[in-house]
Amino acid sequence: MNQDKSLSDIAVIGLGVMGKNLALNIADNHFNVSVFDIDSDKVQAAVDAGQTFGHQRIRAVDSMTNLLASLTTPRRILLSVPAGKIVDVICQQLIDAGIEPDDIVIDSGNSLWTDTIARTKQYQSQLQFFAVAVSGGEEGARVGPSLMPSGSMQAWQHIAPIFTRIAAQVDPITFKPIVRQAGEVTTADSEPCCSYIGPAGSGHYVKMVHNGIEYADMQLICEAYDLLSKAANLTALQIADIFDGWAQGRLSSYLMEISADILRQQDPLTGKPLVEIIADQAGQKGTGLWTAVSSLQLGVPAPTIAEAVYARAMSAQKSLRVQLSQQYNPVDVVALSEIELAQLIGALEQALYAAKVCCYAQGFELLAKQASEQDWQLNYAEIAKLWRAGCIIRASFLQDIVQAYASQENQHLLQAEFFVSSLNNAQSAWRQVVITAVTNGVPIPSISASLAYFDSYRSAVLPANLLQAQRDYFGAHTFKRIDQPEQSYHFNWSEPEQGLEPR
Ligand code: 6PG
Repeated sequence: MNQDKSLSDIAVIGLGVMGKNLALNIADNHFNVSVFDIDSDKVQAAVDAGQTFGHQRIRAVDSMTNLLASLTTPRRILLSVPAGKIVDVICQQLIDAGIEPDDIVIDSGNSLWTDTIARTKQYQSQLQFFAVAVSGGEEGARVGPSLMPSGSMQAWQHIAPIFTRIAAQVDPITFKPIVRQAGEVTTADSEPCCSYIGPAGSGHYVKMVHNGIEYADMQLICEAYDLLSKAANLTALQIADIFDGWAQGRLSSYLMEISADILRQQDPLTGKPLVEIIADQAGQKGTGLWTAVSSLQLGVPAPTIAEAVYARAMSAQKSLRVQLSQQYNPVDVVALSEIELAQLIGALEQALYAAKVCCYAQGFELLAKQASEQDWQLNYAEIAKLWRAGCIIRASFLQDIVQAYASQENQHLLQAEFFVSSLNNAQSAWRQVVITAVTNGVPIPSISASLAYFDSYRSAVLPANLLQAQRDYFGAHTFKRIDQPEQSYHFNWSEPEQGLEPR
């Protein structure tokens, strides 16, 4: 902390929901923070909000020049603005206002990771461009988000004291999130959900994969809801009870808890469950799509995540779905006895768990492949640690991933002994769930894509031998023999007597 109390330790530019709450969180932790937004009402609202918590540490500034003058040097400036062009607009304004090459501009938006690499290079002689990707929404920003910082280590050392304090914290003994109230300072001796990820772009890549997992995790829960509602005919309240039960066990997660809460909410206008009144067309801002695109580009199978993106696209096709639902014969739902219902609920817990393991395995495989492409030294146990609290995918199960990577750094998650044993136990129930969904005509794309992913990875032999032959047949693309793996061959399929031709 600086000695000159008239100067601020950091500035926040952009006082939307995230920026304002990050500023309050920083002030709670005894740092002075200058705040700026083009909307002066938002600046005043941030200052007023700070005062309701009894401190004067939030200081309004009215121009970029005054913002620079209000800070200790090297300056720390946090941008909380939407990803895209606006980041460059503000960097240029700061350059015009006289920012210096040692000053650090920190992008906290969901920027595309390649944009972050480009910006770091573009501005290197004018300012230090750094990224701290943030997860946790409004509440996280206020009392502890999960933070994924990346860029120059020198810049990180200068800003780390602030970011490790404002981050969500985990109890080092119980590994449970520590709950902090607005206005409280972060307690010492806890593990911050914030650790340096690596060079420019790596933190935003990790956040992008977090969001891909977020899409998949949300979709998996939605599929469980759909199956329980359509195949088992359960009400929203009955499903809420089931989700609450699951949230007590290994499926304990923020997304499971909020889903139960949502299912209990009544619509104030009709008295029906609010969830049934909400239009079934999903929005998206694109980070899940980026993850799926990245998986295709890298050749890393991530079907659970990709299916979650497709499910949002499919949901948006409402009018075509309504028309087709009338053109095709309905599937008769098979009535369940009480015992069968109990079995389905138990099996669904296993299927959800197994599918979730697969979606994390896909996310971590993506990280590993991109790390090797970019020459990043990622620490997977540390990444799993910083997702244990504060972020949207926070879940008790992350601690098992931490342990899996702590015991063997470079393994695929499906190879970790703990998960081998849990998936072996779950697989029969998981198959039953997919059979039930297929029999009743209920689409569960992410649960079933996870099973296909699992079955593919546990298959020593896949039918790509026939595929290679097809490619060679129509395009002379060649194939390799299992008994001569180094040599490529073309077979003369139209004149078999000519035999094999080494290529
Ligand atoms: C987070 C979230 C957040 C994301 C929203 C909306 O980690 O806090 O991932 O960054 O923007 O969840 O995402 P979609 O609009 O794409 O669903």
